[in-house]
Amino acid sequence: MILLKSRSELDLMRESGRKLAAILERIKGIIKPGVTTGEIDSLAEELIRQEKAIPAFKGYRGYPAATCTSVNEVVVHGIPGSLKLKDGDIISIDLGLEYKDYFSDAAFTVGVGKIDSKAKKLIEVTRDSLNEGIKAAKPANRLGDISHAVQKYVEKNGFSVVRQFVGHGVGRNLHEEPEVPNFGRKGWGEILKPGMVLAIEPMVNMGTWECEVLEDGWTAVTSDKKLSAHFEHTVAIMEDGPEILTKL
Ligand code: MF3
Ligand code: CO
Repeated sequence: MILLKSRSELDLMRESGRKLAAILERIKGIIKPGVTTGEIDSLAEELIRQEKAIPAFKGYRGYPAATCTSVNEVVVHGIPGSLKLKDGDIISIDLGLEYKDYFSDAAFTVGVGKIDSKAKKLIEVTRDSLNEGIKAAKPANRLGDISHAVQKYVEKNGFSVVRQFVGHGVGRNLHEEPEVPNFGRKGWGEILKPGMVLAIEPMVNMGTWECEVLEDGWTAVTSDKKLSAHFEHTVAIMEDGPEILTKL
């Protein structure tokens, strides 16, 4: 069942999302060569606690940290630690928080220092594919319209969309129905209604869409070890169209 949020629930989700957006901006500001993924995670957790919010990922199915820090060929769920960022890397930061019982979830990818033009294009195409998906998140459209919009934009630009991980509904739980794939068919799936809140999160690979999970049970890497990028927003479907909740 897809839960529809009331106006007062949407107000709380807006608060939750705005806090998350502000924290992600702060995190973006410290990303540079020499910083470790563990340092990024510590800052994220500290900022979340300062806001009287709770890190949503820590302890979720045993996940050990507040952030997922996914570097280069890591698609998602990279575990922060002693890894030091270096010039030319790309890093995706995925962060979720719970505030007054409502979750928000967002991610971005950036280059570390100077990155090559193909990596830059991967990041831009992934960010823009999320925007294409968001544009389709409006009443009377269907879920498949979002999926199709993302996939079409990515493939038109010569990259591939990950199949193994998908976006999701979000609300009083981090993951609610429905699943929001980044591939699919126009006009298929559930009809979108005002009050639905979706985490739309394209994961885009430079080479093959296929990925595998490492021994740690979390880290997902591209099968060909080529780069991968990830952007995510928590988006409410309003009468007059999509509203991005995870923005300032
Ligand atoms: N944004 C990802 C998701 O919604 C992050 C989850 S990481 C986990 O699935 F640790 F919480 F699983
Ligand atoms: Co998510």
